[in-house]
Amino acid sequence: MPGIGKIIFRIMIAIIVILLLLIALIIGIGVAGNKLTIAVTGVYTVGRISDDAILGCTFIPDTTQANNIQWEKVGTSGVVYKYENGKSLLNGQNADFKGRTSLFISEIKSGNASLKLTQIELSDAGTYKCIITNSKGTGEDTLTFKVGGYTDVVVTSPSNDTLRCTSSDWYPKPNVTWESNSEDNITNTIKTTYPPALFNLTDVTSELHGAQLDVEYTCKIHTVLAQAVGVSMLTDFGLQTTARLEVFNSVDPLSVPRLWICALLLSLLLGFVHH
Ligand SMILES: *[C@@H]1O[C@H](CO)[C@@H](O)[C@H](O)[C@H]1NC(C)=O
Ligand SMILES: *[C@@H]1O[C@H](CO)[C@@H](O)[C@H](O)[C@H]1NC(C)=O
Ligand SMILES: *[C@@H]1O[C@H](CO)[C@@H](O)[C@H](O)[C@H]1NC(C)=O
Ligand SMILES: *[C@@H]1O[C@H](CO)[C@@H](O)[C@H](O)[C@H]1NC(C)=O
Ligand SMILES: *[C@@H]1O[C@H](CO)[C@@H](O)[C@H](O)[C@H]1NC(C)=O
Repeated sequence: MPGIGKIIFRIMIAIIVILLLLIALIIGIGVAGNKLTIAVTGVYTVGRISDDAILGCTFIPDTTQANNIQWEKVGTSGVVYKYENGKSLLNGQNADFKGRTSLFISEIKSGNASLKLTQIELSDAGTYKCIITNSKGTGEDTLTFKVGGYTDVVVTSPSNDTLRCTSSDWYPKPNVTWESNSEDNITNTIKTTYPPALFNLTDVTSELHGAQLDVEYTCKIHTVLAQAVGVSMLTDFGLQTTARLEVFNSVDPLSVPRLWICALLLSLLLGFVHH
């Protein structure tokens, strides 16, 4: 005869399974109710002022018939781009985007609805909507486009105990932090200035004084969108440096809470089963 604990455990499992089925049903009804029958995926993107950028969007294509694409920007009138029955229809295009947008026409049939935007400006930042319609139905997704300024860092040594990191055209105003692999506290030997640059951009110069021979010093110039890292060391043979620029392009900070909620629900569920 099974113990009382085992019976309760089985009942709990049954309840969980029923709940999961209900959730699946509700989600199914929600999707059907909106007639969103094509899966569309917008991609979080970071662009650099005055560069070009690709706002990523993919969908499950109809390979035999037309796939119509419409790009909109939330909070602006008109469309960003419209493509219907194999033709671009740009008479309803918002003036801000005139002559600056295009699709990768030959890749549409394989499900790539990405938008190319040239000469990016700060005002291009925002939430975009990628809407797909074909014989299977319609679908849409929104994506966040962030715009900033960032460039590589250059490390020089203006005197035998000074390291200088310089970088130009940042937006928003970045913070600079230094690290070293020695025990010394370097906080008081650093001086950072922000000479203004064109438009709303700023240049950055950060100097570390009292640098020692054969100690590695790292300057990091960073915003939420990007960071430039310069690693340097003064040696008997002169200054050795390497630099890299990282753009935080892959994770939308706004989408993280959604992941957390999923993880939370999952752990609650697992904890429940465990007991
Ligand atoms: C869509 O095509 C363009 C051009 O080939 C490419 O750069 C981009 O990465 C593609 N986007 C996706 C999401 O595959
Ligand atoms: C740096 O240069 C100064 C004079 O310019 C000299 O007195 C000092 O010894 C030098 N320091 C090192 C670590 O080479
Ligand atoms: C380094 O010095 C600064 C100012 O003197 C102080 O605020 C900071 O806590 C020190 N850091 C460490 C790691 O000791
Ligand atoms: C950029 O600077 C101009 C004035 O020079 C200002 O009107 C505008 O709001 C600024 N844009 C941003 C995004 O800070
Ligand atoms: C720079 O540091 C200040 C103070 O610690 C902080 O308030 C600000 O958010 C930081 N900015 C960036 C871009 O990290």
